[in-house]
Amino acid sequence: MNRNILITLLCVFSLHTVWAEEGMWLPNLIGKTKIKEMQALGLKLSADDLYSVNQRSLKDAIVNFSGCTAEIISDAGLILTNHHCGYRQIQSHSSVEHDYLTNGFWAMNRGEELPNEGLSVKILISMEDVTEQMLEGIKPDMQDDKRKKLMLKNKEAIIKGATKANHYTASIESMYYANQYFLFTYEVFQDVRLVAAPPSSIGKFGGDTDNWMWPRHTGDFSMFRIYADSDNKPATYSKDNVPYKPKNSFTISTQGVQPGDFTMVYGYPGRTKEYITSDEVKYTESLSNPHKINLRTLRLEVMNSYQAKDPAVRIMYAAKNASCSNAWKKWQGETKGLRRLGVTKEKQEYESKFTAWAKANNKSEYIDLLPSLHKLYTELEPYQFALEYYNEAYRPIELLKVATSLKLKKADDIESARKSIKSFYKDYYLPIDIETTKRLMGEYSKNISVDFTPQVLIDNKDDISVWVDDLFANSVFSSEEKVLALLDKDVESINSIIESDPAYIVSKEFEAVYNGKLKEKVANINSRITQNYTLYMRGIMEMEPERVLYPDANSTLRIAFGTIEGFNAADAVHYAHQSTIEGIMEKDNPNIYDYDVPQKLRDIYNTKDYGRWEVDGTIPVAFIASNHTTGGNSGSPVINGNGELIGLNFDRCWESTMSDIRYDRDLCRNIAVDIRYVLFLVDKYAGAGYLLEEMKIK
Ligand code: ARG
Ligand code: GLU
Repeated sequence: MNRNILITLLCVFSLHTVWAEEGMWLPNLIGKTKIKEMQALGLKLSADDLYSVNQRSLKDAIVNFSGCTAEIISDAGLILTNHHCGYRQIQSHSSVEHDYLTNGFWAMNRGEELPNEGLSVKILISMEDVTEQMLEGIKPDMQDDKRKKLMLKNKEAIIKGATKANHYTASIESMYYANQYFLFTYEVFQDVRLVAAPPSSIGKFGGDTDNWMWPRHTGDFSMFRIYADSDNKPATYSKDNVPYKPKNSFTISTQGVQPGDFTMVYGYPGRTKEYITSDEVKYTESLSNPHKINLRTLRLEVMNSYQAKDPAVRIMYAAKNASCSNAWKKWQGETKGLRRLGVTKEKQEYESKFTAWAKANNKSEYIDLLPSLHKLYTELEPYQFALEYYNEAYRPIELLKVATSLKLKKADDIESARKSIKSFYKDYYLPIDIETTKRLMGEYSKNISVDFTPQVLIDNKDDISVWVDDLFANSVFSSEEKVLALLDKDVESINSIIESDPAYIVSKEFEAVYNGKLKEKVANINSRITQNYTLYMRGIMEMEPERVLYPDANSTLRIAFGTIEGFNAADAVHYAHQSTIEGIMEKDNPNIYDYDVPQKLRDIYNTKDYGRWEVDGTIPVAFIASNHTTGGNSGSPVINGNGELIGLNFDRCWESTMSDIRYDRDLCRNIAVDIRYVLFLVDKYAGAGYLLEEMKIK
């Protein structure tokens, strides 16, 4: 169907223009929902090629990589994900002597691949609608408690059935605010080894300056390998394990991308809130985001200043800084985008239309729905706001966190406590924590009502700096040596010393506010809000029966699709769809940490030693497309119309980050590393061309 006709059709009733490309679709339903539109845009595959339980399909090559996505790119279990997704592993193998963050890591044979304790990945075996089984025995007039209990029982029975005769794990996730339930069955692999990571000056090129922005020149990739036992089954690490033989792996296309080409992103998007009402949008844009941004600005100022002074501190706080900065910057883009599109007003208008429709059609269950949601949001706001400060101003304080992490039950716990203490202090720098605490506590006492403020902070609010200095001076937790010495004592003495530690006491006061005044209250209001949303979703479906809705992202496998395309970011600003190595060299500046190109890449550029990777005299680096993606899609394969891998998703443009709430076809672009840049780096930069031999490259 012509896109404009489709849009006009969908616009008659809809909340906003519903673009053909908008949405994160359930793979097992793609044949019913979107396959025709995808094929019209250039997809050559069938729904069964994308997802099938009975035959090999692309889903078998998609990996859930702890919060990110990865894809299998060889028959020997080689997987590709982002540099920032493997960041913790790369950091944990790094020290000042072996600084893989700075210098990169390239295993030159399988024996050099590095095991990663605690890292596991999973591959989806199947997904299915289990709404009927979940609701078995549920009556409309059932009491809340009884209903919950029965659903829990049903859920356990379904999971038990799904995992009975196999080694799989399973979970059930609700879709459309509990209007539907899906069962997901996974195979989980525990032996996953680091194979390759470029230096941060490539893998994180542009750093937090370029993060969430286009034009982008980041080689944001790393490679791991899944290992299995001799039966090709998951196993914990053993040197006898062998590379996993997958059901399917991607063919890589080096044919490149052109504006208008079909693309698709297959992966695990984390969270979106496309159906929230105007009240929540307004709260997000005018209160929540601005405050959270401010709190993180303060933390980043402190981290940045100490990290700039000392290379050891730079490594210690690398991952903490990146994760703090990431959401900080995203929230700023999101706020801007929500305002730019006038989403609050747009939603208000839709809500009036909804209520008018309910009245006109005598739909009694929907008539008071939105006013009652509004009331609930008003009730929620002060609690939610305090909860946000608990999360963003109290929890980042490392001293207070470690102080409550240690209570021991028996003598056997001491050894593992010693281990976790050592790993905690490996990345702990006292001056950062002290200064951060002063600033965060200052903001807490300034912005949060005394009802939600621990007495100890009320008592010290005029002298926060002195109080914080005392707290750190008097707590054992400000020193690794003191904590380790403490662990030489017996369990009883350890516990009693911890309990009288000032940091422990302060933490307990914050926990008491949280447990006593926030946790249940917020959960309770939210559960009533969710009940209303269950009804609201149903109402939307009734009001707009012709509109095919996608469920919000919830870390389950999804397909997004779109086209390769540049965009107009602002008045008189047009962005092209592709970046190249020329842009890396334009940004090159040895005096700016984020833009200090490694000498070896400069040399390759200067001699134009691109080999088979040269395209029109340059090297393509990244591209953008209109796929609807979110956090968790990092590392997802970007796929062409033939089902071949053309890139690796790693970000969205800043102008797009409101797409978690409101997608806009003109503004929303996902950012991918061009697969040809990855192959060029492996081959020409790292000299690890042996890895290419196990890939299928076209
Ligand atoms: N913005 C991307 C994502 O949301 C990349 C984050 C990592 N990079 C960084 N510079 N912090 O996760
Ligand atoms: N970098 C994000 C991730 O880690 C993807 C960017 C986005 O939110 O779209 O998943």
